Amino acid sequence: MSLAGNLLSASKGQAAQTILVTSSRRGEGRTTAAAALAHGLAQGASGPVLLVDASFSSPDLHKLFGVTASPGLVEALGDVSVLTQAIRLTKDPKVRLLPLGDNAAITEAWAASFANLLASLKEEYEYIVVDGTPALASSEAAAVAKYFDGVALVVECARTKWEVLNLARDKIRSVDGKILGVVMNKRRFYVPRIFYR
Ligand SMILES: Nc1ncnc2c1ncn2[C@@H]1O[C@H](COP(=O)(O)OP(=O)(O)OP(=O)(O)O)[C@@H](O)[C@H]1O
Ligand SMILES: [Mg+2]
Repeated sequence: MSLAGNLLSASKGQAAQTILVTSSRRGEGRTTAAAALAHGLAQGASGPVLLVDASFSSPDLHKLFGVTASPGLVEALGDVSVLTQAIRLTKDPKVRLLPLGDNAAITEAWAASFANLLASLKEEYEYIVVDGTPALASSEAAAVAKYFDGVALVVECARTKWEVLNLARDKIRSVDGKILGVVMNKRRFYVPRIFYR
């Protein structure tokens, strides 16, 4: 089953409309997994899927999709009228991208206004996939998990120790984040088909 299919069945019939993609540490494949998940979900969706870059320390989605970083999420949170301009079309007709914009740091106030924006975007998009920061990066990074219907935890198989993964899982659960599934990334004998395209 695909990554998207697996995560949807993990939500046990309850539609997980907003999904945070995180990992314990940097470089485990969050951005790659978030993009793959958005493409996967778009295939079964009736309308467009929104992919959002909220990876503060490493905003990369705009590079992957070949668009400018600004205006993006940060600007849209300051002035909601920027949102239409900030959301870009991509090569996948069913995937829209909201890049991060000008860099900022996550604060609790920022996270709360992000949560409000997510709630209003839910009325327009069937799925919203967010590339987040690593859960162990800071307490604010993990705290945003509570604003999502579900969390996908990306693990780089060969590198991440179980203890570190458990720490990330506990941190997400401690803020009431619902882990939908663990994405086992970079398995030696298995590279998802999407990377060959
Ligand atoms: N399944 C995979 N197979 C092979 N290479 C992969 C896979 N997933 C990711 N990579 C590669 O690993 C590197 C890190 O991936 P990616 O940028 O998605 O990680 P990240 O967690 O978003 O990193 P950061 O913490 O810097 O944001 C990239 O060069 C990417 O192309
Ligand atoms: Mg990234």
